[in-house]
Amino acid sequence: MDTILVIGAGGQIGTVLVQALQQKFGLNRVVASDLKTPQVFSGIFETLDATKAEAITALVRRYEVTQIYHLAAILSASGEANPIRTWELNMQTVLNVLEVARVEKVSKVFIPSSIAVFGPSANPVNTPQQSFLDPTTVYGISKVAAENWMQYYYTKYNLDVRSIRYPGVISYQSMPGGGTTDYAVDIYHKAVQGQDYECFLSEDTRLPMIYMDDAIRATLELMEADADQITVRNSYNLAGLSFTPAEVAAAIQHFFPTFQTTYKPDFRQQIANSWPQSIDDSAARRDWGWKPAYDLTRMTEDMIHHLDHQYHADLTQV
Ligand code: NAD
Ligand code: SER
Repeated sequence: MDTILVIGAGGQIGTVLVQALQQKFGLNRVVASDLKTPQVFSGIFETLDATKAEAITALVRRYEVTQIYHLAAILSASGEANPIRTWELNMQTVLNVLEVARVEKVSKVFIPSSIAVFGPSANPVNTPQQSFLDPTTVYGISKVAAENWMQYYYTKYNLDVRSIRYPGVISYQSMPGGGTTDYAVDIYHKAVQGQDYECFLSEDTRLPMIYMDDAIRATLELMEADADQITVRNSYNLAGLSFTPAEVAAAIQHFFPTFQTTYKPDFRQQIANSWPQSIDDSAARRDWGWKPAYDLTRMTEDMIHHLDHQYHADLTQV
């Protein structure tokens, strides 16, 4: 029976992934861990600094961990404030997880990558799986290096490590942690609270995104696939949907006709300009049957429905 260690469990994706893993494997089979200790948590939680390899080893041994999901990282926008710390944290934690998994014979590892691996040399429309990778952010540089390390551990040690290049993840359950795509969550919170929104990207900036339900399902489907189905061992391209700030604002206006968005691009615009607009995920579709379920209309309905419950907003306008 599998026991799962999730590192970075308190973040935007970890919060939701832990619940999905608890449902799949059982409450006592999932060890959630993070630097930050939550005030309330259902299940097993351990405070962990993943820059300390011996601390990861101790948890793996104590709980007889068979799978690790490593989510701790500093994301694209926050990373630019402190490039050296971002490189050190992102790389040290990845190397620790890979090495502990190798030595302790952990059977499967998941480490996400990002659309941030792409830079100006990649074709921005339907960006291919195999592209020249010249990222412009320290976050993107660390993700390219992590992809190469994953390939290395698979090839040299046969470690079953799997990865997805997540697009910007949109969720109602948790807040994003310092990325360039964070506007696409913030805008829904403002709208449901009856406020207007000032967007830090220009209205026509098209980026690849994915709804959290799809991102979690993709992760579980990749991890469930037979090892011989997995032909990509650095990281799979994954597509959900692609839209601009103006398009998501229009989708929200369908529910809140008086909602207004203004645009004041900041340093994140340059990061967004260097990223793809849409992603070719044919390898994920071919190898493990990936297919997204949410388009912009369905995601907007679901986001507003759930955020309304969170904020007790008056939905008589809907
Ligand atoms: P997040 O910033 O919301 O959460 C990261 C978590 O890691 C935080 O809870 C933080 O406390 C924890 N952490 C930081 N340093 C740590 C350490 N030394 N030891 C243990 N925990 C530590 O990030 P997220 O959005 O949930 O992203 C999870 C992963 O998915 C990251 O690798 C990120 O690069 C990747 N990803 C996310 C997105 C997205 O849109 N959210 C898109 C592409 C890729
Ligand atoms: N959503 C992430 C970011 O903007 C992409 O990795 O940093």
